[in-house]
Amino acid sequence: MTTNSAPAAASAARDLFGPARLGPLDLPNRLVMAPMTRNRAADDGTPLPIMAEYYAQRAGAGLIIAEATTPNAVGATYPNIPAIYRDTHVEGWRAVTDTVHAAGGRMFLQLQHGGRIGHPETSGLHPVAPSPVPFPDAMHTPSGSRPPVVPREMTVEEIRSTVQDFANAARNAVAAGFAGVEVHAANGYLLHQFLGQDTNRRTDAYGGPVAHRIRFTVEVVRAVVDAIGAERVGVRIAPGVTANAMAEGDTEAIYPELVAALAEIGPAYLHVVFADPDQPLFRELRAAWTGVLIANPVLGWGGPLPEDGGKAAAERLLAAGADLIALGRPFLANPDLVDRLRGGAPVNQVRDSGLMYTGGAEGYTDYPALDRAALAAGV
Ligand SMILES: Cc1cc2nc3c(=O)[nH]c(=O)nc-3n(C[C@H](O)[C@H](O)[C@H](O)COP(=O)(O)O)c2cc1C
Repeated sequence: MTTNSAPAAASAARDLFGPARLGPLDLPNRLVMAPMTRNRAADDGTPLPIMAEYYAQRAGAGLIIAEATTPNAVGATYPNIPAIYRDTHVEGWRAVTDTVHAAGGRMFLQLQHGGRIGHPETSGLHPVAPSPVPFPDAMHTPSGSRPPVVPREMTVEEIRSTVQDFANAARNAVAAGFAGVEVHAANGYLLHQFLGQDTNRRTDAYGGPVAHRIRFTVEVVRAVVDAIGAERVGVRIAPGVTANAMAEGDTEAIYPELVAALAEIGPAYLHVVFADPDQPLFRELRAAWTGVLIANPVLGWGGPLPEDGGKAAAERLLAAGADLIALGRPFLANPDLVDRLRGGAPVNQVRDSGLMYTGGAEGYTDYPALDRAALAAGV
């Protein structure tokens, strides 16, 4: 198995708008569109043509990491999220990647199993998780908000088949035209549930000490790397993030051990959510990870985007050693975000957060781009 070699992305002076290398890709800039669930797929998880239009509008990103996509039926989180375990899913995604490539863009696909973040009214199946610890709040389903169900504890057999589902999904993603996949181990979904003490109460080889709690994530990443090659794989982590009612307990112990184990496998990148350059754990992980590090800065939740669209936060993280910068809502609201940040032009705010997770074009493909003359004039 390969280990991380000195990343090409780190060797050049880090200019947000300069080129970088990531796995098999030459990126024209260091700005990455963060994965964002938008609930615009068909009911069976097949990507729809409007998704191709949305992503192609954002092809100026150095890299697009397409939204969380389920590798199997029971892993589905919310209504109308995309999937990648059937031929029809692959065909739907192929239309998206073809359109984005024609527009000059590059794409990875995020693979997400929801674990306890799921509901029988959404997937038709009872959710599974490391332990039978329910999500404490109501769950969004096709028939509206519903009380959560207690997930069923995964058997070791199910853990093994889920690892294979991730590997198959990764092969499907490559067949669909993605340059690679991002394994989602962040934000309170299945892999993160295995990492945290509150959600993982197992007493077998997958629970208890940190070495056991990281095992599932490490097995998934290894299987995905074996399936499609290390240079096509990234991993997203969210140290200390409490999204989806996560309570890790021993954050400072989990991540150094996890990152050391991942470094042995050598995926192309590590993606850190809510990266804070002043946080000791972030600095420790940056020093320990010799591969490409994508950092997603803290721009604040729910409030307005900073007037500069996140540029100052991005540059602080580059100065702190990040190689690439992922932005979410700035890309959601600004199809031409890279041009705007480069030219110092004002950014669109997210118009209505209620439209983030609903179907249709409104709040999705209708955010305006600036015309090039206005951009050149810095308007
Ligand atoms: C509408 C929306 C959907 C999101 N969906 C995902 C997702 O599918 N996978 C994921 O890892 N993070 C997801 N996130 C988190 C973003 O990737 C990002 O970490 C977060 O928005 C903070 O970055 P920002 O302040 O630049 O938006 C989502 C965020 C938003 C706003």
